[in-house]
Amino acid sequence: MTYINDEIIENVRENSDIVSLISDYVHLKKSGSNYVGLCPFHNEKTPSFTVSSTKQIFHCFGCGEGGDIIKFIMKKENVDFPDAIKLLADKLGIEINMEINKDSSHKDEKGKVYEINREAARYFLNNLDHNNAPLAYLGNRSISKKVRRQFGLGFAINSWDSLYNYLKSKNYSDVEIEQAGLVGKKEKSNGFYDKFRNRIMFPIIDTRSRVIGFGGRVMDQKMPKYLNSPDTIVYNKGNHLYGLNLVSKYSNRKRILLVEGYMDVISLFDSGINYAVASLGTALTERQSKIIKRYGDEVYVCYDSDNAGIKATLRAIDIMSKVDLNPKILILPDGMDPDDYMKRNGPIEFEKLFVNAYSYIDFKVHILKREYKIDTLEGKIKFTREVANIIKNIKSPIEQDIYIDKISQETKITKDAIEKEIRGNNYNKKSFNYKNIAISEIKPVKSALPPAHYKAEIELIKLMIKEKDYYYYIIERLSIDDFNSKECINIFKQLNTFYDNCEIIDEKVLFDKILEIPNLNKNTIDLIFINSSKYKAGDIEKIIDDLIKTVSTNNLLKKRNAMLTEIEELEKKSRNAIEDEKFKQLCLDLMALNSKINLDN
Ligand code: CTP
Ligand code: MN
Repeated sequence: MTYINDEIIENVRENSDIVSLISDYVHLKKSGSNYVGLCPFHNEKTPSFTVSSTKQIFHCFGCGEGGDIIKFIMKKENVDFPDAIKLLADKLGIEINMEINKDSSHKDEKGKVYEINREAARYFLNNLDHNNAPLAYLGNRSISKKVRRQFGLGFAINSWDSLYNYLKSKNYSDVEIEQAGLVGKKEKSNGFYDKFRNRIMFPIIDTRSRVIGFGGRVMDQKMPKYLNSPDTIVYNKGNHLYGLNLVSKYSNRKRILLVEGYMDVISLFDSGINYAVASLGTALTERQSKIIKRYGDEVYVCYDSDNAGIKATLRAIDIMSKVDLNPKILILPDGMDPDDYMKRNGPIEFEKLFVNAYSYIDFKVHILKREYKIDTLEGKIKFTREVANIIKNIKSPIEQDIYIDKISQETKITKDAIEKEIRGNNYNKKSFNYKNIAISEIKPVKSALPPAHYKAEIELIKLMIKEKDYYYYIIERLSIDDFNSKECINIFKQLNTFYDNCEIIDEKVLFDKILEIPNLNKNTIDLIFINSSKYKAGDIEKIIDDLIKTVSTNNLLKKRNAMLTEIEELEKKSRNAIEDEKFKQLCLDLMALNSKINLDN
């Protein structure tokens, strides 16, 4: 049997996207967060074959077959494991012949580098506990001991050879130590020097918990602020993401958030966002985008709000689109980064950034608007041209229409002018045929998200308990039907009776009353009663309005889902004239609702 080394197998696994590969064999349709189709391994008329993009596995509920992409190829092509790998490598353009005969010493070399990196990380970690300056620095940045441990932070002392000597004492050879990239050869004399000196050390750890490299930050204004490991046999910065080890361990893979820096990832993690990663001091690569795609259904980008960050965001959008990702963009106030924003405003405000996230198209338009003076004729023309170029590239005609509408409203440039710019003068509206609309084309406008909604409900209920005035303000704008959490609904009901009889609610009495109600979630109740939210008095009205908006937008989304289901039903069958009219109307209503959801945000 042919021997294929682990590196190649790993490479194939990391680079293969199960959905696109299986699509060569099975017609797959998106269903929720998975894809479904007719099982290729048994005869069936209704699809029970499911493929998960985030988990990278398939499973058939009909015949029980399941596994990863390698298993699929083995079964489907009737080949053994090495041949399946070869076949996949071939499809993915991974060179296999070159490496197949490499002796196993290469593997040993890598193993040594991983070992040395781990030793170094341990050494840095230990240094930190004995040095006041870095401890004070981290303390100033509110990094707790717990977070330090979670990220394995350490310290390289101000010495030219302490790490080198330490590694020598562990019996590693010069060649091995040099390969790990942490020391450099002295130019004038023999020997080596430590590259990282007097810096806070951030180990970069892969999803298999191996230390693959380091970033090191100065504690003052010296340059360069960060120093990073060079590429080595185990580390290529375009192939990895900082924080992915923790995302892989903790995140539920619903969302993934791309940020710029080490400190952003750390600070967000500390505040409960366990799904942030950073591209390691480079422009995002396609390889990194592919990894991102596998670790979250919804992809967000939140780079620093400065010129460099905006440029990098635009680049990231383009790179991501090459692997079919349409990220949403979180926009921070000028000059801030995610770390600053989280520290200054806290998790609830940060969550609102998600609710208000820009689609990548909105973001591009937003940037163009800043760039051109659209109150001048020349600016307006240039702006329209650029926008038309963006809209041209949207695949779905309905989505195109929504954006044309929206931009026309925002800029007062007529729809007609924008349309002509996009489609040329020959554009004929009547050619727009509702029968040809694929459902997938209507779907892409996504918006507010359940977690935000859930938090908003809870915040609203808390405020209603706290102040009778808030209670009246809120019930004028939301009804009990707008709430989804059972806990909130029950408290909402009680509040009515309470406020009928008193001005101020005795929280203890209410709390006891709620505890008597069966089948409520204790954690949620605790969230409502135990943690108090601190708002600045002047901000409160705006906050309540925002919370109300979050809740009502989510309800519009629910309505939209119901409409989509109806449209999908109608789409499947051959429609008579009346049904066709209804179908058309529903599509129009949906478009209107889509833009309402979008505009409201
Ligand atoms: N970076 C780098 N080399 C530099 C500067 C930056 O590799 N000389 C990378 C690091 O990964 C850094 C990221 O780019 O985390 C973002 O840089 P910057 O915004 O300058 O740093 P912050 O992450 O904001 O770090 P801090 O808050 O510590 O200033
Ligand atoms: Mn930054």
